[in-house]
Amino acid sequence: MAEQKRAAYRDLATQLDALIADEPDIIANAANFAALVYHGLPDLNWAGFYFDRGGELVLGPFQGKPACTRIPWGDGVCGTAAARAASVIVPDVEAFPGHIACDAASRSELVVPLVVGGRVVGVFDLDSPLIARFDEDDRTGCETLAAILLAGHPEWPARFG
Ligand code: SME
Repeated sequence: MAEQKRAAYRDLATQLDALIADEPDIIANAANFAALVYHGLPDLNWAGFYFDRGGELVLGPFQGKPACTRIPWGDGVCGTAAARAASVIVPDVEAFPGHIACDAASRSELVVPLVVGGRVVGVFDLDSPLIARFDEDDRTGCETLAAILLAGHPEWPARFG
């Protein structure tokens, strides 16, 4: 099971490489990233980006229901991952103080920070309707996918923020 999951992430990484290789636009690549992950992983009800805009996280490309547009740095799961510059896995959102409920169906969550040149430029957020949907393989897999996206966009901090 764990090996199957790791293989699925390797497959997603190959697809992501191909999707973004010839496209220089960050928004286009972030949009395809969100669609690839949302449709490529099981049991998700939301997957998408929040970008740093002057110390506030603002909604970026995503798949799923409409979501909160602005999250203060340090707030919710997204703001916590951004402030810590570290991924956060929440097995039960109802047990996470300060969790921001955008979609009432969400039961567990994984947020991966996007770090360029030592600076957090945003986060990638995944929500699931299942309790404890995300494990260490998901964290590693999503961090690897985020690193592939960021490697193609060293200019990111200069464009936004
Ligand atoms: N639950 C997040 C907010 C974003 S939505 O899940 C799309 C949080 O607590 O930061």
